[in-house]
Amino acid sequence: MEREVITLLSKREIEKMRRAGHLAAKLLYHLSAMVKPGVSTLELNDEAERWTQEQGAKSAPLGYKGYPKSICTSVNEVVCHGIPNAKQILKDGDIINIDVTLIVDGYHGDTSKTFFVGEPSPIARKLVEVTEECRRRGIEAIKPGAKIGDIGAAIQEYAESQGFSVVRDFVGHGISNIFHTAPQIPHYGEPGKGKRLRPGMVFTIEPMINEGTWEVEVMEDKWTALTLDRKLSAQCEHTLLVTESGVEILTPYPGGDGV
Ligand code: MF3
Ligand code: CO
Ligand code: CO
Repeated sequence: MEREVITLLSKREIEKMRRAGHLAAKLLYHLSAMVKPGVSTLELNDEAERWTQEQGAKSAPLGYKGYPKSICTSVNEVVCHGIPNAKQILKDGDIINIDVTLIVDGYHGDTSKTFFVGEPSPIARKLVEVTEECRRRGIEAIKPGAKIGDIGAAIQEYAESQGFSVVRDFVGHGISNIFHTAPQIPHYGEPGKGKRLRPGMVFTIEPMINEGTWEVEVMEDKWTALTLDRKLSAQCEHTLLVTESGVEILTPYPGGDGV
């Protein structure tokens, strides 16, 4: 975390976040059309970089703390931060999370979604559906005066009621002209705990929900996080603004995503 204090964004900054967020969501939607058996994760990355440059925007992950690519592509048992690779070819039945973050006029839009490659198994379908419902319930907990713990509690309660687990090692984050800043938004926790939400706060909710254990391990590449038991993991993410009356989704998915 670069800073402990939670920044409240000005109207001018919020407009920039909205532009970055909407463009990031548009990129995610654009890439979704490429998700098919036979496509490599590097092809998704290269199209993302090409499209981003065409829009006059910048890929935030590229070079961030040494990250080598423009997007993260996390397949099946990969929890997050999967690195696109020419040798990784999508096959029927895979699930893939694509996580994109764009910088537009200095501000960040961060969003992700898990897609089916061909026909998913029943358990993969359930995991992805539960993950999206977790994000929806987390977003629903956002309003001025609510606490950060209310978000994680809503997510954890639903995930565990469906027989799944919540990853602890990666959390949502404040985001503005800085990619990752205060506050941290755990996807687990207790209602009424943590800092109070105030209008002008902007942060992500990005639950990683596992089929089996919540424990993860990071590969030798220092990025790719895998489930310890190698069972499936799914994730989805929105960038969110706390408003006077509740919440605004800054990364609305053009295809509609049920939130
Ligand atoms: N987009 C990811 C997030 O949701 C962060 C990726 S950092 C990278 O926070 F370096 F791996 F790209
Ligand atoms: Co994020
Ligand atoms: Co992200």
